[in-house]
Amino acid sequence: MSDDRLGQHHHHQHDQAHQTFEPPKSLSATSHVKDFQEYQRMYKQSVGDPEAFWGQIAEQFHWESPPDGAFVNYNFDTRKGSIFIKWMEGAKTNIAYNMLDRNVKNGLGNKIAFYWEGNDPLDQGKITYSEMLESVCKFSNVLKSLGVKRGDRVAIYMPMIVELVVAMLACARIGAVHSIVFAGFSSESLSERIIDANCYAIVTADGVWRGSKLLNLKSIVDKALEICKEKGKPVNKCVVVRHLSPDEEEVTSEADKDVEDCPVAKRPCGKLKIGWQNGRDEWWHVLMSQASKDCAPEWLDAEDPLFMLYTSGSTGKPKGVLHTVAGYMLYSATTFKYVFDYQPDDVYWCTADVGWITGHSYVCYGPMGNGATGVIFEGTPFYPDAGRFWNVVEKYKVTKFYTAPTAIRSLMKFDDSFVTKYDRSSLKVLGTVGEPINPEAWLWYHRVVGQENCAIVDTFWQTETGGHVITPLPGATATKPGSATFPFFGIVPALLTDDGREITGPGEGYLVFKQPWPGIMRTVFGNHERFETTYFKKFPGYYCTGDGAKSDEDGYLWITGRIDDMVNVSGHLLSTAEVESALIEHDAVAEAASVSHPHNIKGECIYCFVTLKEGATFSDNLVVELKSMVRSKIGPFAQPDYIQNAPALPKTRSGKIMRRILRKVAVNDHELGDTSTLADESVIDTLFKLRPAEA
Ligand code: PRX
Repeated sequence: MSDDRLGQHHHHQHDQAHQTFEPPKSLSATSHVKDFQEYQRMYKQSVGDPEAFWGQIAEQFHWESPPDGAFVNYNFDTRKGSIFIKWMEGAKTNIAYNMLDRNVKNGLGNKIAFYWEGNDPLDQGKITYSEMLESVCKFSNVLKSLGVKRGDRVAIYMPMIVELVVAMLACARIGAVHSIVFAGFSSESLSERIIDANCYAIVTADGVWRGSKLLNLKSIVDKALEICKEKGKPVNKCVVVRHLSPDEEEVTSEADKDVEDCPVAKRPCGKLKIGWQNGRDEWWHVLMSQASKDCAPEWLDAEDPLFMLYTSGSTGKPKGVLHTVAGYMLYSATTFKYVFDYQPDDVYWCTADVGWITGHSYVCYGPMGNGATGVIFEGTPFYPDAGRFWNVVEKYKVTKFYTAPTAIRSLMKFDDSFVTKYDRSSLKVLGTVGEPINPEAWLWYHRVVGQENCAIVDTFWQTETGGHVITPLPGATATKPGSATFPFFGIVPALLTDDGREITGPGEGYLVFKQPWPGIMRTVFGNHERFETTYFKKFPGYYCTGDGAKSDEDGYLWITGRIDDMVNVSGHLLSTAEVESALIEHDAVAEAASVSHPHNIKGECIYCFVTLKEGATFSDNLVVELKSMVRSKIGPFAQPDYIQNAPALPKTRSGKIMRRILRKVAVNDHELGDTSTLADESVIDTLFKLRPAEA
């Protein structure tokens, strides 16, 4: 980890924003936590007596049998041995049972679990908790019939459709471990994740419309499965949801003729052709039509794996973050309840894709754990126009809304009338996640979207934390634009200096946590050592987030961003190493370095420096090729904004690239600080001269 990014973040102007917003009075009256004193009292209990706090919460869930040892047991200190975290070990439960059967037994069977809003505004659906239970049982039986067993990994590569949630809960019901890959990743990235997890099967869909673009998901999966086969890790089964209207001339298999049961609306498949491998590929609707609707849940241990989800690692190889059943269930449901101040008549909408952790915790598990009604949205904020979000809010009378700062920044560029022409009076809580929110965007969200009546919750967390860790509570916390405010129940944050001393009072340092909470990850799949080195080695005794943070005179926390070599593009975390290894696969490239660069909409974007091989010339054409190289190797969201020629890179005498200097070159800032460790200072002038005109 490089420490050179601490204190480097000046693009978030805190001063103008030291304005405080009290919780809306209308909320405080009915909310779960009515004021800051109540928050403080509950917080004290949660960190002082975790067993009493979480034990009481656990009572609302179904346990087939109780824990047989300590309620919580852990080691956070590498000097004392291996790192481990266990909550409620020995207890038996099933998360799908708790999301479905338990809610149905409690009288919520006819309650809408999800409204589904398609990419096309006329394409829609809804599903109740009972119907969801039936679909999940059927698909559980489908998975079993395909040979999926408890503990097997199942890859999921799907658009935002109800079947995606059905597939994940079916895995959970039979004890299979889902590994969802966001359906914007390339074939290559998908295959890398399937191989690392050694997946037995994959669930996908034929294709999907995103805005006016048609994506052929099945062909991306086909290519990925080809790579898996070549690398000796073939996937046995591929289940395909028929999501687009079938095309007459399209002949794939016998099963294809049997599409009547398959609900399709305004989803023409255009010219999309999909391949089919008999024996491996199966239509979802065909298997479902033959499946029984009874499926007893598999009673799992509290600490059995529930799912893995890949996140970028600073070495470039993604890490399979592993979460377990009971702790994740308690934590996703509890954070959902308090952070969105969940009430039974809420209509809750999280715009995140289920392919990211936000979708896992706050589209699926958190809301369903509370028996909430949610919205699953397939489309984009700009289709058919920039008013879509607010159109959907009006349509379903959404009360709690959760999105990313990047979406807010891109929408606030348009005329406010895109927002104001829709009725937003149902809204009560507005959340953000994924990256720091600049005060200007926060204030627009509050004033224009929320009409100054809503609580804004800026929620800081990570794939690794399973749920919110630093966040306001809507009825209790006075907010400051740009601050994620205070720790959630059970979270004990600290700010550390580079040599590991805790900073008391106002200051800036490494954001770490001192004790575990139920939702923290348990390991990196297949690589526990990497888990220990990434999160626990630098500061023994602490979980290290990899983010920097400031604490102000009132104790508010302000996340300043990553301090390792990670880039957060529109809330998607990428490692610079990942981008670099894609670039150097191009024949003309000898060496590459990429850095994070400020961007008005995306928050950060990727700026690359490439050193070419002898004889190669830098040209506009090469830039286009390199950008598309990264798109196809990783995915469209990873495309660099800038690529500049770098005859040489600034390195230390030991050969380490000094990214701190590259970040300065990228923003044309000549205040370089200490350059005495550079092997050759003349490199820098050249780099400044070769900056692309548009940067
Ligand atoms: O840098 C922080 C940033 O996103 C990182 C986690 O990314 P990921 O695991 O993909 O999960 C994103 C969704 C939870 C963090 O290390 N981040 C996330 N939320 C915030 C944030 N930075 C500032 N403020 C936030 N609210």
